[in-house]
Amino acid sequence: MIKANYPVDKLGAIQTPFYYYDLNVLRATLDEINQHKGSFKVHYAMKANVNTQVLATIKNAGLGADCVSGGEVQAALDAGIPASEVVFAGVGKADWEINLGLDNDIFCFNVESVPELEVIDGLAAAKGKKARVALRINPNVSANTHHYITTGLNENKFGINLSELDKVTDMVKTLANVELVGIHFHIGSQITDMTPFQDLCVKVNEIQEHFESRGVALMHINVGGGLGINYEHPNHFPVPDFAAYFKIFREHLTLRPGQTLHFELGRAVVAQCGSLISKVLYVKEGTSKKFAILDAGFTELIRPALYQAYHRIENLSSDKAEETYDVVGPICESSDTFAKDYVMNATKRGDIIALRSAGAYGEIMASQYNLRKLPKAYTSDELLIK
Ligand code: LLP
Repeated sequence: MIKANYPVDKLGAIQTPFYYYDLNVLRATLDEINQHKGSFKVHYAMKANVNTQVLATIKNAGLGADCVSGGEVQAALDAGIPASEVVFAGVGKADWEINLGLDNDIFCFNVESVPELEVIDGLAAAKGKKARVALRINPNVSANTHHYITTGLNENKFGINLSELDKVTDMVKTLANVELVGIHFHIGSQITDMTPFQDLCVKVNEIQEHFESRGVALMHINVGGGLGINYEHPNHFPVPDFAAYFKIFREHLTLRPGQTLHFELGRAVVAQCGSLISKVLYVKEGTSKKFAILDAGFTELIRPALYQAYHRIENLSSDKAEETYDVVGPICESSDTFAKDYVMNATKRGDIIALRSAGAYGEIMASQYNLRKLPKAYTSDELLIK
């Protein structure tokens, strides 16, 4: 089993806070994906992390890219990911972003509304091109995850509702500059129970039959991402169970001959390879509790403040008896708290702390609030950590 390596001598010598990516964990994760994906196509969800070396490692493993902005489309192309493997989703694509996709002949636009279809058709016509599109369908499947990261319910802003499907399909046929190549779904993120994925398969089968009964053949089915990771035990479960995940789709989703099944995995690819490395600035005795005040805050890792997310916190400098702390950052907001009543090895000023499982939606969501500097990042390769 591959384990992330955190040598405190090397990490402690670098100015904190910073992100640390263990590329050995990332490579082991990508190997596992490639071992179990069979003929499925995996597009890495760029929104999770676009660190240059992380992206290069993902590109070398042969994954395509799932983008949600012109910036991400450009970053995928700059990383050398072929345009023919780039999918582009998002409820609010601006004209320049659509044009960027058209100019580079990306594989497919995942389209979320009728007005968007019309705009893509118009922009493609102006270039004398035909845009490949997949309809993003809202399957009304519950993902049993945090309400901020659930996307596949009727109440969410994403995708085309099932009730509108016929109307939209008829309308696509009237547009000369778009070609309907597939359908797309994404039900949410950090899904650790496989049942919602199984529910999604059942829905996709029904929707496929519906399309067939109307004489529409689809080449591509894209089921999005969402596979969760184990935030509690990153050392025991550094690589998600891709075998079980792909098996669900293999067993429950009926593909037609020649059809390709696509995935857009973000978190499951990169979360476990990354940590936010920080230093304890002060240990402050409150009236009823002790605070460990770090030099990292929600400006570097916003997930605990925004989603009440749990990240394992390790004191790399101490093997003293455990004590209980509120682990907080330096930002002038009470929500700048990584964990309350957290039990970890007794800490003192200067100790090096790792906030684990931060490779996905960590560095990329950093901000400069309080005029803080955006965090730097280092990889195990460049620090010569095996
Ligand atoms: N495809 C689409 C259309 C998406 O909206 C997303 C994520 C993905 C793929 C990748 O999902 P993943 O495999 O990473 O679960 N910032 C939040 C997560 C937001 C996810 C948004 N969409 C967090 O830190 O938990």
